[in-house]
Amino acid sequence: MEVVRPFVFRLPREIYFGWGKGAETGGLVKPLGKKAFVVTGKRATRETGILEMVTSSLKQAGLEWVVFDQVEPEPSLEIVDAGLHKAYQERCDLVLSLGGGSVLDCGKAIAGLLGQDESVVPYFDGVKQLEKPGVPWVALPTTAGTGSEMTNNAVLTNYHTGVKKSFRSPYLVARMAIIDPQFTVFLNARVTASSGIDALVQAIEAFTSPRTNPVSELLALEAIRLIWEFLPRAVAQGNERQFREQVAKGSMISAMAFANASSGPAHGLSHIIGPAFGIPHGEACGLLFPVTMRFNKAVLGEKYVTVARAVGIRGESQGEVIDNFERSFRGLLEKIGLRTRLRDFGVKKEMLREVVREELIQRSLRENPRPIGVNEAVELLYEAW
Ligand SMILES: [Fe+2]
Repeated sequence: MEVVRPFVFRLPREIYFGWGKGAETGGLVKPLGKKAFVVTGKRATRETGILEMVTSSLKQAGLEWVVFDQVEPEPSLEIVDAGLHKAYQERCDLVLSLGGGSVLDCGKAIAGLLGQDESVVPYFDGVKQLEKPGVPWVALPTTAGTGSEMTNNAVLTNYHTGVKKSFRSPYLVARMAIIDPQFTVFLNARVTASSGIDALVQAIEAFTSPRTNPVSELLALEAIRLIWEFLPRAVAQGNERQFREQVAKGSMISAMAFANASSGPAHGLSHIIGPAFGIPHGEACGLLFPVTMRFNKAVLGEKYVTVARAVGIRGESQGEVIDNFERSFRGLLEKIGLRTRLRDFGVKKEMLREVVREELIQRSLRENPRPIGVNEAVELLYEAW
């Protein structure tokens, strides 16, 4: 029997999940503060009425709030500092994020710093570390996939240097997550598909991660099973409550798992090619996963077989099960309308070598159980091309 390696498992203290829970936000967050700083994007939550639903629940609960709706995809350090400045000015004592991954990450960073510091820059640069929690942060995801509601990091970009990386601290974990699958009915088929695949790959990579733990492993397998079964249905019939609920549930469980493990090479490579060629994160992870599985199967074969069996894939030998799983995974991508090759995004094969740089590999592929250097990374991208 293997020894159990020591591990820590962190999650938001309270996680509310359920259809219509978003409308109860005011009552749920009331014990956490008096004036909420509501971080959201420029349009979507207004146009869908989600923002109005949440703010009227705050009003009903007798809370004050101010809306900060300047967050754009891939948030900058400046936007975090601008939000932080406004939250100080307005004397907010609670931060709510309502939106997709970028909005969640931006609000998470603001909450972590509020009451402690004036700028995120030294934390992003690694010069300073948080030493205690900021104000309570409440995450209300409107997509099912990024998982930021469970994680301890905020992905930010310094547009002056082009560096995109994580501001990370155990004090950045949400105080509360409110997950309302009803919010996701507004997502179109493409976003549903790519965020769902992101959650699926995150669960597989959490399960196969060298830094996984027994709790993450259990959760990851269940997430894989749920997303595999229900994502195609949620894509095909986006108005069906039951499919949206199952995918949101799978995505939540996936996030719990990977927030406490580490992501793998499909994520590592997607962080290189996503920004370079403007490929949506989920789609990049989806098309890269099969080639990274082939690369890693010599060391992770048994684990991939467990994943494959969890979604009903059979075969005579380990190799056959993994081959069948790879074929089914590609079939899943096609079924939900995602592109399966880098060339489908207009990427020229000769461009791939240029974007792979040593420091990017150091940042995101260092932990792979089978070492990946520049040459291996380029080969993997060629295969995915
Ligand atoms: Fe991801």
